[in-house]
Amino acid sequence: MVKKYVSPFIFFFLEKGRVVVWDYKNHQQFELEQSYFERLSALSQGDETDSPIDKELFEANMIFYSDVDIEWGWDMLSKIFHIGTQDIPLAYNTSEPKQFIQNYMEFCEKVSTDIPCMFTEKIGVKHTLPPPNCSLFSTTDLWSVLQRRKTSRSFTGESVSLNIISTLLYAVFGNIHPEWADLTEYNLSDLSYRKSSPSAGGLHPSEAYLVALNVQDIEPGVYHYESHTHSLTSIRENKDIPKLGPLLAGQSFAERLSAGIFITARFEKSWHKYKHSKAYNHILLDIGHLSQTFQLCVTAIGLYPWLTAAFSEKQVIKLLKLEGTSEYPMFFVGVGKGDGHSLSQEMREYLRN
Ligand SMILES: Cc1cc2nc3c(=O)[nH]c(=O)nc-3n(C[C@H](O)[C@H](O)[C@H](O)COP(=O)(O)O)c2cc1C
Repeated sequence: MVKKYVSPFIFFFLEKGRVVVWDYKNHQQFELEQSYFERLSALSQGDETDSPIDKELFEANMIFYSDVDIEWGWDMLSKIFHIGTQDIPLAYNTSEPKQFIQNYMEFCEKVSTDIPCMFTEKIGVKHTLPPPNCSLFSTTDLWSVLQRRKTSRSFTGESVSLNIISTLLYAVFGNIHPEWADLTEYNLSDLSYRKSSPSAGGLHPSEAYLVALNVQDIEPGVYHYESHTHSLTSIRENKDIPKLGPLLAGQSFAERLSAGIFITARFEKSWHKYKHSKAYNHILLDIGHLSQTFQLCVTAIGLYPWLTAAFSEKQVIKLLKLEGTSEYPMFFVGVGKGDGHSLSQEMREYLRN
């Protein structure tokens, strides 16, 4: 008798009364009859007898004759996502360059109907923003900005001008290119667009919500940034906003930022074009790019940036009025004045004593 190992890359779920096994490594799903489920269950308990079912289970990658598990330091959830989003067969993949172009065009054609609305508009009081003042970025050079970029946690709570906020929103989240000339030149329909950061498929599923804490010429509150019109829409007044510290996992130094921005993602934009959950990775990567652009822009204009992913999604969804939508908060970036120290004033005082 040879020892048999149940695949470490499967999980089970119920769908309409059927037991389904998902082999997430090989991207296969099977409906399981009870006898097969019971056999897998017995094998996982160390049963060393033979069964006629085993051959079929082996051929379907449900069992192995050696231990094929990998080292993994997190829980099952991340393992399923990590392995399950690798080696996804792509509709247009081919080794033949001409065929690739044809396949890719067919893919684009297929996803070009019923596309979700590209630009997001919120209902609420609109506020025009001052025109961006991009000359704010010309006083320094890229190398100096890269060297000076640093996560600061030591802010004073001083105000910044709306002019600066307008410029930051435009430079990081704005539609800084009027049209995608490289595509329109070839009569390709403009189903995607460009910003200062790249975005998977040019979809830009991210949205920016300004949390104005101390910004001149605008009331404290939460505002949605409408990128295609470069304007703000009121989402919440100051009196309806909870304290930022507890909202951001107790990082109360954030209350001395001048402003913050919750970056969300409209999942449906990505769902439409990319059917596999690997696209969740794209969204995270998109937001990483936006965040870095924000960090560099803030540094270039002589202010200090901060960033966090530590917040209660449930509370932020409520704050941004996103309940019942397919838009989710993913990240928070902040800007303020201060001494640029990595440690908050409270932390330094604590360490000194
Ligand atoms: C995805 C991500 C999440 C982060 N979360 C936090 C956070 O919750 N709180 C915080 O103070 N800094 C956070 N940071 C900042 C890092 O702590 C910081 O980048 C790191 O300490 C290196 O310092 P530097 O940015 O000054 O080079 C985060 C950074 C990234 C990229």
